[in-house]
Amino acid sequence: MNLNVDIGIKISNPFILASGILDENGYTMKRILENGAAAVVTKSIGTSERQGYNPPIIYENDPVFLNAVGLSNPGIDNFKDEVKIALESGRPVIGSIFGKDAPEFSELAKKMESYGVSAIELNLSCPHVNGYGMEVGSDPDLVYEIVSEVKSRVKIPVFSKLSPNTSNILEEAKAAEKSDALVLINTLKGMEIDIASKKPVLSNVYGGLSGKCIKPVGIRYVYEVKKETGKTVIGVGGIENVNDAIEYIMAGASAVQIGTAIYRHGIKIFNELNSGLIEYMDKNGISNINDMIGVAIA
Ligand SMILES: Cc1cc2nc3c(=O)[nH]c(=O)nc-3n(C[C@H](O)[C@H](O)[C@H](O)COP(=O)(O)O)c2cc1C
Repeated sequence: MNLNVDIGIKISNPFILASGILDENGYTMKRILENGAAAVVTKSIGTSERQGYNPPIIYENDPVFLNAVGLSNPGIDNFKDEVKIALESGRPVIGSIFGKDAPEFSELAKKMESYGVSAIELNLSCPHVNGYGMEVGSDPDLVYEIVSEVKSRVKIPVFSKLSPNTSNILEEAKAAEKSDALVLINTLKGMEIDIASKKPVLSNVYGGLSGKCIKPVGIRYVYEVKKETGKTVIGVGGIENVNDAIEYIMAGASAVQIGTAIYRHGIKIFNELNSGLIEYMDKNGISNINDMIGVAIA
Protein backbone atom coordinates (compact mmCIF):
# COMPACT_ATOMS: atom_id res chain seq x y z
CA MET A 1 0.00 0.00 0.00
CA ASN A 2 1.40 3.42 -0.95
CA LEU A 3 0.83 6.37 1.41
CA ASN A 4 3.68 8.49 -0.03
CA VAL A 5 2.65 11.84 -1.48
CA ASP A 6 4.56 14.61 -3.22
CA ILE A 7 3.81 18.17 -2.12
CA GLY A 8 7.02 19.62 -3.54
CA ILE A 9 8.78 17.48 -0.96
CA LYS A 10 8.15 13.76 -0.73
CA ILE A 11 6.49 12.70 2.51
CA SER A 12 5.72 9.19 3.77
CA ASN A 13 2.04 9.76 4.61
CA PRO A 14 -0.37 12.70 4.11
CA PHE A 15 -0.51 13.86 7.77
CA ILE A 16 1.36 17.02 8.85
CA LEU A 17 1.33 19.05 12.08
CA ALA A 18 -0.22 22.52 11.43
CA SER A 19 1.58 25.72 12.38
CA GLY A 20 0.97 27.04 15.90
CA ILE A 21 0.35 23.88 17.92
CA LEU A 22 3.26 22.37 19.93
CA ASP A 23 5.72 23.54 17.30
CA GLU A 24 7.72 26.31 18.93
CA ASN A 25 9.79 23.67 20.69
CA GLY A 26 12.20 21.18 19.07
CA TYR A 27 11.40 18.31 21.43
CA THR A 28 7.63 18.44 20.95
CA MET A 29 8.09 18.63 17.16
CA LYS A 30 10.47 15.64 17.34
CA ARG A 31 8.00 13.64 19.44
CA ILE A 32 5.18 14.32 16.98
CA LEU A 33 7.42 13.29 14.06
CA GLU A 34 8.28 10.07 15.89
CA ASN A 35 4.59 9.37 16.46
CA GLY A 36 3.14 9.24 12.98
CA ALA A 37 3.32 12.77 11.51
CA ALA A 38 5.06 12.72 8.12
CA ALA A 39 6.24 16.32 8.62
CA VAL A 40 5.72 19.27 10.95
CA VAL A 41 5.19 22.94 10.20
CA THR A 42 6.87 25.16 12.79
CA LYS A 43 5.14 27.97 14.67
CA SER A 44 5.23 31.08 12.45
CA ILE A 45 8.53 32.80 13.15
CA GLY A 46 9.29 36.51 12.63
CA THR A 47 12.40 38.66 12.67
CA SER A 48 12.43 39.23 16.42
CA GLU A 49 10.94 37.85 19.63
CA ARG A 50 7.26 38.72 20.19
CA GLN A 51 5.35 38.26 23.43
CA GLY A 52 1.92 38.10 21.83
CA TYR A 53 -1.25 39.21 23.59
CA ASN A 54 -2.17 39.05 27.26
CA PRO A 55 -4.50 36.25 28.40
CA PRO A 56 -7.12 35.15 27.68
CA ILE A 57 -5.68 34.17 24.31
CA ILE A 58 -7.60 30.91 23.85
CA TYR A 59 -11.32 30.30 24.27
CA GLU A 60 -12.83 26.85 23.97
CA ASN A 61 -16.55 26.06 23.98
CA ASP A 62 -16.99 22.97 21.87
CA PRO A 63 -17.25 23.13 18.86
CA VAL A 64 -15.98 26.72 19.02
CA PHE A 65 -12.24 27.21 19.38
CA LEU A 66 -10.99 30.80 19.19
CA ASN A 67 -7.40 31.97 19.58
CA ALA A 68 -5.62 35.29 19.47
CA VAL A 69 -2.11 34.31 20.44
CA GLY A 70 -0.71 37.32 18.59
CA LEU A 71 2.09 35.55 16.71
CA SER A 72 4.15 35.13 19.86
CA ASN A 73 7.45 33.52 18.88
CA PRO A 74 11.14 33.50 19.89
CA GLY A 75 12.42 35.28 16.75
CA ILE A 76 14.36 33.65 13.92
CA ASP A 77 17.81 33.93 15.51
CA ASN A 78 16.65 31.96 18.56
CA PHE A 79 14.98 29.21 16.55
CA LYS A 80 17.93 27.38 14.95
CA ASP A 81 18.35 24.85 17.79
CA GLU A 82 14.65 24.00 17.85
CA VAL A 83 14.77 23.04 14.17
CA LYS A 84 17.97 21.07 14.76
CA ILE A 85 16.33 19.02 17.54
CA ALA A 86 13.21 18.34 15.44
CA LEU A 87 15.41 17.19 12.53
CA GLU A 88 16.91 14.44 14.73
CA SER A 89 13.70 12.54 13.90
CA GLY A 90 14.95 12.15 10.31
CA ARG A 91 11.65 13.55 9.01
CA PRO A 92 11.01 16.88 7.24
CA VAL A 93 10.43 20.16 9.03
CA ILE A 94 8.61 22.94 7.18
CA GLY A 95 9.56 26.42 8.40
CA SER A 96 6.64 28.84 8.76
CA ILE A 97 7.51 32.54 8.63
CA PHE A 98 5.67 35.86 8.81
CA GLY A 99 6.82 39.33 7.85
CA LYS A 100 5.52 42.69 6.70
CA ASP A 101 7.08 42.86 3.23
CA ALA A 102 9.12 40.96 0.63
CA PRO A 103 12.60 41.80 2.02
CA GLU A 104 11.56 40.66 5.53
CA PHE A 105 10.06 37.39 4.24
CA SER A 106 13.17 36.75 2.10
CA GLU A 107 15.58 37.23 4.99
CA LEU A 108 13.53 34.90 7.19
CA ALA A 109 13.29 32.30 4.42
CA LYS A 110 17.08 32.35 3.85
CA LYS A 111 17.72 31.82 7.56
CA MET A 112 15.14 29.02 7.84
CA GLU A 113 16.70 27.33 4.79
CA SER A 114 20.15 27.51 6.40
CA TYR A 115 18.71 25.74 9.50
CA GLY A 116 17.94 22.67 7.35
CA VAL A 117 14.17 22.87 6.82
CA SER A 118 12.79 21.06 3.73
CA ALA A 119 10.33 23.78 2.69
CA ILE A 120 9.11 27.25 3.66
CA GLU A 121 5.47 28.05 4.51
CA LEU A 122 4.60 31.73 4.10
CA ASN A 123 1.99 32.83 6.63
CA LEU A 124 -0.04 35.25 4.52
CA SER A 125 -3.16 34.74 6.55
CA CYS A 126 -3.08 35.19 10.36
CA PRO A 127 -6.34 37.08 11.10
CA HIS A 128 -5.52 38.88 14.35
CA VAL A 129 -2.24 40.84 14.11
CA ASN A 130 -2.10 44.31 12.57
CA GLY A 131 0.36 44.70 9.71
CA TYR A 132 0.97 40.97 9.27
CA GLY A 133 -0.70 37.81 8.05
CA MET A 134 -4.08 38.47 6.51
CA GLU A 135 -3.38 42.18 6.07
CA VAL A 136 -0.38 41.27 3.91
CA GLY A 137 -2.20 38.38 2.24
CA SER A 138 -5.20 40.43 1.18
CA ASP A 139 -3.03 42.60 -1.10
CA PRO A 140 -2.53 40.52 -4.29
CA ASP A 141 0.37 42.67 -5.58
CA LEU A 142 2.21 42.30 -2.28
CA VAL A 143 1.59 38.53 -2.23
CA TYR A 144 2.95 38.25 -5.77
CA GLU A 145 6.04 40.25 -4.82
CA ILE A 146 6.66 38.24 -1.62
CA VAL A 147 6.28 34.84 -3.29
CA SER A 148 8.42 35.85 -6.30
CA GLU A 149 11.20 37.24 -4.14
CA VAL A 150 11.26 34.33 -1.69
CA LYS A 151 11.22 31.82 -4.59
CA SER A 152 14.22 33.56 -6.15
CA ARG A 153 16.18 33.57 -2.88
CA VAL A 154 15.79 29.95 -1.67
CA LYS A 155 16.33 26.58 -3.35
CA ILE A 156 13.73 24.67 -1.31
CA PRO A 157 9.99 24.56 -2.12
CA VAL A 158 7.80 27.46 -0.97
CA PHE A 159 4.20 27.02 0.23
CA SER A 160 1.73 29.90 0.63
CA LYS A 161 -0.85 29.68 3.41
CA LEU A 162 -3.92 31.62 2.39
CA SER A 163 -6.76 33.22 4.27
CA PRO A 164 -10.44 32.25 4.16
CA ASN A 165 -11.23 35.84 5.22
CA THR A 166 -11.32 37.00 1.62
CA SER A 167 -13.98 37.73 -0.91
CA ASN A 168 -11.96 36.22 -3.74
CA ILE A 169 -9.80 33.20 -2.96
CA LEU A 170 -8.95 32.66 -6.62
CA GLU A 171 -7.41 36.13 -6.85
CA GLU A 172 -5.32 35.28 -3.78
CA ALA A 173 -4.35 31.89 -5.24
CA LYS A 174 -3.38 33.50 -8.55
CA ALA A 175 -1.20 36.05 -6.77
CA ALA A 176 0.60 33.15 -5.05
CA GLU A 177 0.81 30.96 -8.17
CA LYS A 178 4.61 30.79 -8.13
CA SER A 179 4.36 28.79 -4.89
CA ASP A 180 5.03 25.06 -5.04
CA ALA A 181 1.84 24.41 -3.03
CA LEU A 182 -1.05 26.38 -1.55
CA VAL A 183 -2.08 25.73 2.05
CA LEU A 184 -5.79 26.27 2.80
CA ILE A 185 -7.08 27.47 5.26
CA ASN A 186 -5.89 29.61 8.15
CA THR A 187 -8.43 30.47 10.87
CA LEU A 188 -11.60 32.49 10.25
CA LYS A 189 -11.77 35.84 12.00
CA GLY A 190 -14.35 35.66 14.79
CA MET A 191 -15.30 36.63 18.33
CA GLU A 192 -17.66 35.77 21.19
CA ILE A 193 -19.01 37.77 24.14
CA ASP A 194 -19.12 36.58 27.73
CA ILE A 195 -22.59 37.75 28.74
CA ALA A 196 -21.78 37.61 32.48
CA SER A 197 -18.91 40.11 32.22
CA LYS A 198 -20.41 41.81 29.12
CA LYS A 199 -16.97 41.62 27.52
CA PRO A 200 -15.38 39.82 24.57
CA VAL A 201 -13.94 36.45 25.61
CA LEU A 202 -10.48 37.24 24.21
CA SER A 203 -8.24 40.08 25.37
CA ASN A 204 -7.66 41.03 21.73
CA VAL A 205 -11.45 41.06 21.06
CA TYR A 206 -11.03 39.35 17.67
CA GLY A 207 -9.53 35.93 17.21
CA GLY A 208 -9.18 33.08 14.75
CA LEU A 209 -11.84 30.38 14.69
CA SER A 210 -10.54 26.85 14.18
CA GLY A 211 -11.52 23.24 14.80
CA LYS A 212 -14.37 21.11 13.52
CA CYS A 213 -16.81 23.99 12.94
CA ILE A 214 -14.62 25.35 10.10
CA LYS A 215 -14.23 22.07 8.21
CA PRO A 216 -16.93 22.77 5.58
CA VAL A 217 -15.26 26.11 4.82
CA GLY A 218 -11.85 24.45 4.43
CA ILE A 219 -13.24 21.72 2.19
CA ARG A 220 -14.91 24.33 -0.01
CA TYR A 221 -11.71 26.37 -0.44
CA VAL A 222 -9.59 23.29 -1.18
CA TYR A 223 -12.13 22.07 -3.74
CA GLU A 224 -12.50 25.43 -5.45
CA VAL A 225 -8.78 26.20 -5.61
CA LYS A 226 -7.82 22.70 -6.79
CA LYS A 227 -10.56 22.68 -9.41
CA GLU A 228 -9.80 26.14 -10.77
CA THR A 229 -5.99 26.18 -10.56
CA GLY A 230 -4.89 22.53 -10.60
CA LYS A 231 -2.10 23.47 -8.17
CA THR A 232 -0.86 21.23 -5.37
CA VAL A 233 -3.05 21.97 -2.33
CA ILE A 234 -2.50 21.12 1.33
CA GLY A 235 -5.77 21.06 3.30
CA VAL A 236 -6.18 22.27 6.89
CA GLY A 237 -9.15 23.14 9.07
CA GLY A 238 -11.19 21.06 11.47
CA ILE A 239 -9.73 17.62 10.83
CA GLU A 240 -10.62 15.44 13.83
CA ASN A 241 -10.59 11.94 12.36
CA VAL A 242 -9.68 9.95 9.28
CA ASN A 243 -13.01 10.56 7.53
CA ASP A 244 -12.41 14.32 7.72
CA ALA A 245 -8.94 13.81 6.22
CA ILE A 246 -10.32 11.62 3.42
CA GLU A 247 -12.88 14.32 2.60
CA TYR A 248 -10.09 16.88 2.19
CA ILE A 249 -8.09 14.46 -0.01
CA MET A 250 -11.13 13.75 -2.19
CA ALA A 251 -11.70 17.53 -2.47
CA GLY A 252 -8.19 17.87 -3.92
CA ALA A 253 -5.70 18.03 -1.04
CA SER A 254 -2.46 16.08 -1.56
CA ALA A 255 -1.79 16.23 2.19
CA VAL A 256 -3.53 17.60 5.27
CA GLN A 257 -2.48 19.45 8.41
CA ILE A 258 -3.89 18.92 11.89
CA GLY A 259 -3.98 21.63 14.57
CA THR A 260 -6.85 22.13 17.03
CA ALA A 261 -7.69 18.40 17.20
CA ILE A 262 -4.42 17.90 19.10
CA TYR A 263 -5.85 19.90 22.03
CA ARG A 264 -8.71 17.38 22.22
CA HIS A 265 -7.09 14.10 21.20
CA GLY A 266 -3.38 14.51 21.92
CA ILE A 267 -0.54 13.62 19.58
CA LYS A 268 -1.72 10.01 19.26
CA ILE A 269 -4.08 11.34 16.59
CA PHE A 270 -1.30 10.97 13.98
CA ASN A 271 -0.92 7.21 14.48
CA GLU A 272 -4.72 6.86 14.57
CA LEU A 273 -5.06 8.76 11.28
CA ASN A 274 -2.46 6.51 9.63
CA SER A 275 -4.08 3.28 10.76
CA GLY A 276 -7.56 4.61 9.89
CA LEU A 277 -6.39 5.52 6.38
CA ILE A 278 -4.81 2.10 5.82
CA GLU A 279 -8.02 0.44 6.99
CA TYR A 280 -10.14 2.61 4.68
CA MET A 281 -7.90 1.94 1.65
CA ASP A 282 -7.80 -1.76 2.41
CA LYS A 283 -11.61 -2.01 2.68
CA ASN A 284 -12.10 -0.04 -0.54
CA GLY A 285 -9.44 -1.81 -2.62
CA ILE A 286 -7.28 1.31 -2.99
CA SER A 287 -3.56 0.60 -3.14
CA ASN A 288 -2.26 4.13 -3.78
CA ILE A 289 -3.31 7.25 -1.88
CA ASN A 290 -2.60 9.35 -4.97
CA ASP A 291 -5.61 7.71 -6.68
CA MET A 292 -7.85 9.40 -4.07
CA ILE A 293 -6.67 12.98 -4.55
CA GLY A 294 -9.43 15.15 -6.03
CA VAL A 295 -11.75 12.26 -6.95
CA ALA A 296 -14.77 14.30 -5.79
CA ILE A 297 -14.05 17.13 -8.21
CA ALA A 298 -16.81 17.32 -10.80
C1 LIG B 1 -3.46 28.26 19.01
C2 LIG B 1 -3.27 28.38 17.54
C3 LIG B 1 -2.13 29.02 17.03
C4 LIG B 1 -1.94 29.13 15.64
N1 LIG B 1 -0.80 29.73 15.18
C5 LIG B 1 -0.58 29.78 13.83
C6 LIG B 1 0.63 30.32 13.32
O1 LIG B 1 1.54 30.74 14.05
N2 LIG B 1 0.78 30.36 11.98
C7 LIG B 1 -0.16 29.87 11.08
O2 LIG B 1 0.05 29.91 9.87
N3 LIG B 1 -1.31 29.33 11.55
C8 LIG B 1 -1.53 29.27 12.89
N4 LIG B 1 -2.69 28.71 13.37
C9 LIG B 1 -3.70 28.19 12.40
C10 LIG B 1 -3.57 26.68 12.17
O3 LIG B 1 -2.30 26.33 11.64
C11 LIG B 1 -4.66 26.17 11.21
O4 LIG B 1 -4.54 26.79 9.96
C12 LIG B 1 -6.08 26.44 11.74
O5 LIG B 1 -6.13 26.33 13.15
C13 LIG B 1 -7.11 25.48 11.15
O6 LIG B 1 -6.77 24.12 11.40
P1 LIG B 1 -7.34 23.29 12.68
O7 LIG B 1 -8.84 23.44 12.66
O8 LIG B 1 -6.88 21.87 12.44
O9 LIG B 1 -6.72 23.90 13.87
C14 LIG B 1 -2.90 28.58 14.75
C15 LIG B 1 -4.04 27.94 15.26
C16 LIG B 1 -4.24 27.82 16.63
C17 LIG B 1 -5.47 27.10 17.14
